[in-house]
Amino acid sequence: MPGLPPPRHSGEYSVVLVCLGNICRSPVADVVLTARVAEAGLDDVVRVDSGGTGSWHVGDVMDTRSAATLVAAGYDPDRHRARHFDGDWLRRADLVLTMDRSNHADVLALAAPEDVARVRLFGDFDPTDVGGEVPDPYYGGPSGFTDVLARVERTCDRLVAHLAAELVRS
Ligand code: 4NP
Repeated sequence: MPGLPPPRHSGEYSVVLVCLGNICRSPVADVVLTARVAEAGLDDVVRVDSGGTGSWHVGDVMDTRSAATLVAAGYDPDRHRARHFDGDWLRRADLVLTMDRSNHADVLALAAPEDVARVRLFGDFDPTDVGGEVPDPYYGGPSGFTDVLARVERTCDRLVAHLAAELVRS
C-alpha cells in the first residue's frame, strides 16, 4: 500500500483529482472524497479539488450523466464547475491523483523533478483493482458512470484511511 507524499507546509493538505475534461470522472471523485473527508472529521486538515488537463470545459457544470449518478447515490453534484489543472497548481498540491494513464503522463509532463513523487494514479489506492485506471465514460453508456462511482467510492474509503492515519498525529 503506498504512503502519502509529505505535506508541503503546516496548512491544509491539498489533494487534487485530475482527469481530462474535469466534467465526468474527477468531479465524481471530488464530490465523494469531499464527503468522506467531512464524515471522517478531516475537513480542517484536507482540502479536496479537481481539475482537467484539457481546458475545453472550463466553467462548465458536471456532465449530466455523472451528476445523475451522484444524485442517485445521495450526493450533491451542483457546486462543481470545471477547472484547468496546470503546472502552477501542481506546484502547490501535496498529492495529485490521476484517473488514467494518459492523464498521468500529461500531469507528469508538467511536473518539476521534485514534484514527480506527488503524482500518483488514483487506482494505486483502489483496494479491489490495485493500480487500475478509472476508464473514461464520456463516449460510452450508463454503466460506465456507475463503474466510475463504484471505483471512486471504494478508493476514497481507502484514501481517507490513509489521510487519517498519516496526517492526524498527536
Ligand atoms: P473526463 O471525461 O475526463 O472524465 O471529464 C471527458 C470529458 C470530456 C471529454 C473527454 C473526456 N471531451 O472530449 O470533451
